Amino acid sequence: MCGIVAAAARREVSEILLEGLRRLEYRGYDSAGMALINEQRGLQIHKRNGKVKELEAAQLQEPFYGSTGIAHTRWATHGKPSQENAHPHTSGQRLALVHNGIIENHAALRKELIDVGYEMASVTDTEVIAHLLHQHLQAGASLMQAMQKTVARLEGAYALAAIDVEYPDTVVGARKGSPLVVGVGIGENFLASDQMALRQVTDRFIYLEEGDLVEITPGAVQVCTLEGESVERPTKRIQEALETSELGDFDHYMMKEIFEQPVALEATLAGATTVQDVEDSFGNAAAGVFDRVTNVQIVACGTSYHAGMVARYWLEEIAGISCEVEVASEFRYRKRVQHEGTLLVAISQSGETADTLAALRNATEGEFIGSLVVANVDNSSLVRECDLVFLTRAGAEIGVASTKAFTTQLVAMLMLTLALGRRRNMAEARQLEIIQALQDLPHYVRQTLELNSAIQTLSEAFIPKRHALFLGRGIQYPIAMEGALKLKEISYIHAEAYPAGELKHGPLALVDDDMPVVAVAPNDELLEKLKSNLEEVRSRGGELFVFADREAGFATEDRVTVLPMPHCPEVLKPIVYTVALQLLSYHVALQKGTDVDKPRNLAKSVTVE
Ligand code: F6R
Repeated sequence: MCGIVAAAARREVSEILLEGLRRLEYRGYDSAGMALINEQRGLQIHKRNGKVKELEAAQLQEPFYGSTGIAHTRWATHGKPSQENAHPHTSGQRLALVHNGIIENHAALRKELIDVGYEMASVTDTEVIAHLLHQHLQAGASLMQAMQKTVARLEGAYALAAIDVEYPDTVVGARKGSPLVVGVGIGENFLASDQMALRQVTDRFIYLEEGDLVEITPGAVQVCTLEGESVERPTKRIQEALETSELGDFDHYMMKEIFEQPVALEATLAGATTVQDVEDSFGNAAAGVFDRVTNVQIVACGTSYHAGMVARYWLEEIAGISCEVEVASEFRYRKRVQHEGTLLVAISQSGETADTLAALRNATEGEFIGSLVVANVDNSSLVRECDLVFLTRAGAEIGVASTKAFTTQLVAMLMLTLALGRRRNMAEARQLEIIQALQDLPHYVRQTLELNSAIQTLSEAFIPKRHALFLGRGIQYPIAMEGALKLKEISYIHAEAYPAGELKHGPLALVDDDMPVVAVAPNDELLEKLKSNLEEVRSRGGELFVFADREAGFATEDRVTVLPMPHCPEVLKPIVYTVALQLLSYHVALQKGTDVDKPRNLAKSVTVE
């Protein structure tokens, strides 16, 4: 979603803010803006429609400088992407404010402010916050008091940062339902919606809690509650090496991240050579919770939801434990009947997805025996709020289309299957077999990556197409769904996935010689049935692209292109086939000339509902 960076320093900060925005741009890229306070020239603002490079160009053309400032990259929610709707928003030519989130009562506040004489320069929900802040400052409140009184009026989600010319060395911020961290420097302090924006200037962070307000100056950080009570929040030093945001030899982050998968999988599996190691990866408290689990309820969105769907097959088939999976945006609003002994499992790359977080927070007292999150971002909201945490070690994922986060989530869920399965009399030989398969996984993924140029050639057939069907059976059905999601989100080809057995119940009507059909066909017990389904497609003139185990007995022939996949253990197939489908969508998008890393209308980390 949108990104916030702010600084209160004793040195010039415009370049720090711009670098922060570059690092956050993958989260939203409709428009960008920056405001600085300059002792001589007061409040100065640049806003530009489009990407951060437009803002950089504006700054190059008409540079301005200051040591206190805020900046923002936007993903439009209220109001189309435009210069007027870009943040920062101002009021009374004295203050500027940036916002992530959605203010639900903005219409009522807007009316109230117009009635007392405020003029609106944009159609955003954010502008009302700037005017409310102004109103309280004009009434004599300090900047921090004004922020406190302002947020008391807001319904919805927000992370905010604001500056005011009367407080030239101060930035105030607040968070509720949207993340905000303080970067602690020496003689300078910062705010950002994601620590990654600030890793260039510090490795020490304060993670604000829900409802916290904060005031930063170059020499101090003060945090208080909504009621104005001062609170201490610990400062944590980030241990791991700087996340690489360099592209290196790759043209796109998506491709870099696809190729990073063997290493990301190794890192996620590190040290897990026995079932006990596997269990230890879920933390010290895991054993006590896992002992009581009789059901699993998974909640997630998008690609992470597909990881949950795959996990359901594993948990039920391998661990013999019942499992439900639901998209978080449905789960959170539904009246439900929960079985006793249910573990709530949230899967989320960012750990900040609003719907997934709400599903966790809405759980009623006693509804679940505990909560577990599988996340890729340490200290994210879900990580802080769940009882148990499994951190995937995929490293920063910048491409909007999730790739390495997904495959590492699958590994985490297979590890959960092992930890729960051993409590339900899963045979030891089976446990060892899966552990061995997991150890071998990076090797099979490397073999699949070697198919890159074959997949590139195959992808050419998709360039003129407007639609595509993806088919899978059993555990490969969610992989077909993930393949279709990847293709549609980055190449804008309309793609749908079906369990192959559903074909003749409707979708077959769509099949003609213009409809490419992708089949995910590993060599499992459903293969023969899948073959009959594919014959149904062929006999209607459909063109088939079959990703099949090289031992599955498929051969390339007229209107059938077979991509022979590495022969690997059954349990790994969903992960290995995913990699091939990621490459397919990448190459199609590349040849169609879309913005692979920043597809239209999308953003990384969906922190609004
Ligand atoms: C698709 C994609 C999204 C995310 C979804 C959930 O490629 O990346 O569908 O998977 O927005 O995000 P997280 O995993 O951060 O909760």
